[in-house]
Amino acid sequence: MSKKAKLIIDNKDYEFPILGGSVGPDVVDISKLYSSTGNFTFDPGFTSTASCESSITYIDGEKGECFYRGYPMDELANKSSFLEVAYLLWNGELPTKEEWFEYSEAIKTHTMVHEQMKKFFDGFRRGSHPMAILTSVVAALSAFYPDSIDVNDLQQRQISARRMIAKVPTLAAMAYKYSIGQPFIYPDNSLDYTENFLQMVFAVPAEKYKVNKVFAKALDKIFILHADHEQNASTSTVRLAASSGVNPFASISTGFTSLWGPLHGGANEAALNMLLEIGDVKKIPEYIKRAKDKDDPFKLMGFGHRVYKNYDPRAKVMQKTCHEVLEEVGKKDDKILQVAIELEKIALQDEYFVEKKLYPNIDFYSGITLNAMGFPSTMFTALFAVARTAGWIAHWKEMYLDTKNRIGRPRQLYMGEKPRPFTELKDRN
Ligand code: CMC
Repeated sequence: MSKKAKLIIDNKDYEFPILGGSVGPDVVDISKLYSSTGNFTFDPGFTSTASCESSITYIDGEKGECFYRGYPMDELANKSSFLEVAYLLWNGELPTKEEWFEYSEAIKTHTMVHEQMKKFFDGFRRGSHPMAILTSVVAALSAFYPDSIDVNDLQQRQISARRMIAKVPTLAAMAYKYSIGQPFIYPDNSLDYTENFLQMVFAVPAEKYKVNKVFAKALDKIFILHADHEQNASTSTVRLAASSGVNPFASISTGFTSLWGPLHGGANEAALNMLLEIGDVKKIPEYIKRAKDKDDPFKLMGFGHRVYKNYDPRAKVMQKTCHEVLEEVGKKDDKILQVAIELEKIALQDEYFVEKKLYPNIDFYSGITLNAMGFPSTMFTALFAVARTAGWIAHWKEMYLDTKNRIGRPRQLYMGEKPRPFTELKDRN
């Protein structure tokens, strides 16, 4: 017998179906709540609301586990590649050898951007934050590729998605190069996806560039860890924007915008800045005290998560990767790493953090790692965005295939003025 939830309003009983997913908590289907009761639900921040059905990523927040299409994310991080994960997220299954060849070659055919796009960059002030540039140039892709913006055409959906996977790294590297006044470096399709990105960011025309294999492997892992994460703020933003039927590039650009915030993808930059500001293990107690003080807006950046009430599995892989990269650059005893390790140790024993189940999240160690590889902190969120593009496009496609999909339109609890008469300016004091 199917389960039902009973709701009593003004002594009247209402029943709502309870739906079960393949794993995870059941959900009460309240889609008929308003039509049957005249009430809405109130859930700021969507803490208890499933906004859609999804088959892409599953997080078990209590256990601290994350799965992409059923595969443990940490296993993918250690054994797969980012591009294969992007394929998996989009298609639902791992590629056969033949499918892999077709996909990886197709991505390579799209790595360059339209030459005219360079002029677009010229409009930005030098020194602009790479995310300020990226949020705009990704949306501008719709002006350059008008042949793939019809969201109702399956073929165009696929081409635009592949274009984004291929071009976002090129645009992210260009945004960086522009911000530091160096010439753009074209993609090199003889390199793999992540190696190519590294060369577009770090190569200069005056010198031969050799990809550091340890960095390439570490960055590829970091991309996998960031590729998707259920209905987070940026993914939900993409879904909401796309629900209006707007073109793919415009939809995905909203993900970049939402990701940029310090509580989301901007936390890696903020976490490194915080560790640098602490600077010395002796100062940790002072910052722990501040993080616990309700009157102080300071939070431990890289700590806490809406879903994980256990150690973030991404942080575990990240911590190991951090050690590998620091060893490669001869900074095993890096002072900032020592601050991070000690801060984590103290916080994990502190009653406040234990009680609230606040653990290090992916951003806690990613800043130190990326910094050691030579990325400035202003590029951290852009790197996150390169990876999350794979998740955004997968959710975007899933939304279009969902027959239950309707334009997103939340309700509100209105607390403003009741209807009142308007007085013309001439009759006012
Ligand atoms: N430092 C100190 N206290 C914290 C922290 C923190 N980092 N995170 C949460 N708390 C406290 C918070 O003040 C609240 O206390 P109380 O119940 O007394 O009011 C309680 O813990 C619950 O926190 P919340 O803010 O209600 O939780 P949330 O689910 O709304 O927010 C979060 C989750 C990630 C935004 C938040 O933990 C945070 O701001 N962390 C720091 C920023 C950060 O590291 N963000 C990266 C998230 S992971 C990458 C990504 O997915 O983008």
